[in-house]
Amino acid sequence: MTSTRGMAVTGLGTALPPTVLTNADLEQTLDTSDAWITERTGIRERRVDGSTGELAVQAARAALADAGVEAESVDLLILATETPDALMPATSASVAGELGLRCGSFDLNAACAGFTYGLVIAERLVAGGLDRILLVGSDSMWSITDHDDRNTAVLFGDGAGALVLEATADDSAGVLGWDAGTDGTLGSVLACDIGGTIRMDGQTVFKKAVRVVVESCAAALEKAKLAGDDVDVFAPHQANVRIIDASARRLGIPGDRCAVVLDRTGNTSAGSIPLALADARERGRLHDGAIVLVSGFGAGMTWASAVLRWASQPIP
Ligand code: COA
Repeated sequence: MTSTRGMAVTGLGTALPPTVLTNADLEQTLDTSDAWITERTGIRERRVDGSTGELAVQAARAALADAGVEAESVDLLILATETPDALMPATSASVAGELGLRCGSFDLNAACAGFTYGLVIAERLVAGGLDRILLVGSDSMWSITDHDDRNTAVLFGDGAGALVLEATADDSAGVLGWDAGTDGTLGSVLACDIGGTIRMDGQTVFKKAVRVVVESCAAALEKAKLAGDDVDVFAPHQANVRIIDASARRLGIPGDRCAVVLDRTGNTSAGSIPLALADARERGRLHDGAIVLVSGFGAGMTWASAVLRWASQPIP
């Protein structure tokens, strides 16, 4: 896991569609209640009716502006999504066109773990010589949700987040340890056919999620030679606040170090971790040198975790 170049996060941007759907709105159409949704999931409202490509462009533009870099200087675009706008071309291609990128691009589908996989891949590519990577997580989960199914309709929303990742001379910055896994025998517990809507066995997903987040984060921390208590910011996938709380408790991470945005966003799949990171930064918690733990899990089931030492400055 050693390299002579580190990786800094020099820009961060997010995007949410304007339409807000509150729990009270859902009470009008579903046999559910604000009290049930809040208590069982932590979600109070979500944003809907966005498109993956448009949200990705918006978040990417914000991240590029935040980093103060031009689109033409980006060496690679990685777009993590499980809700592409079309089967082909890849949504990353249309996003690259909109942004005016002059580099390679590809979509990455590892469901709700996609952003973390992208982060790990980006770090290896930066270590190997790329100077600047745009990593975007964007999903329009509402578009594949059955709006009449209370089992899933209360959980999902649309959103995106983007990071500008740049090489830095500080080789202690970037990914210090990571872990990834897949259990393909659990494919049917969370699935969506092409043109269909999400089917989910919530309890099975819940139990497996807590187990794999804890095991995977512990493995990533061990590779980084760190413990739960060393983590300054835990930015896990935003699916259910009870999954976040249970995982943090078992990992020995104090609750006040968890980044939580799902109360305002619901589960935005690949968008959720960068949205959580942006929220942590807004609250002044992402200082240079901070130890940040990210962990995603989802359909597959697949999961990935990474420990980062945060840095915000590129090679001078
Ligand atoms: N509103 C009101 N009641 C609901 C409901 C809703 N939206 N959804 C389910 N219920 C009911 C059930 O029918 C059940 O009723 P019963 O006791 O009369 O049979 C009761 O609430 C409890 O259901 P249960 O499934 O045991 O609830 P839960 O505490 O497991 O919470 C989830 C359900 C879906 C919120 C939870 O299992 C979960 O978050 N799972 C993980 C899902 C996930 O993260 N998916 C994405 C992964 S990327």
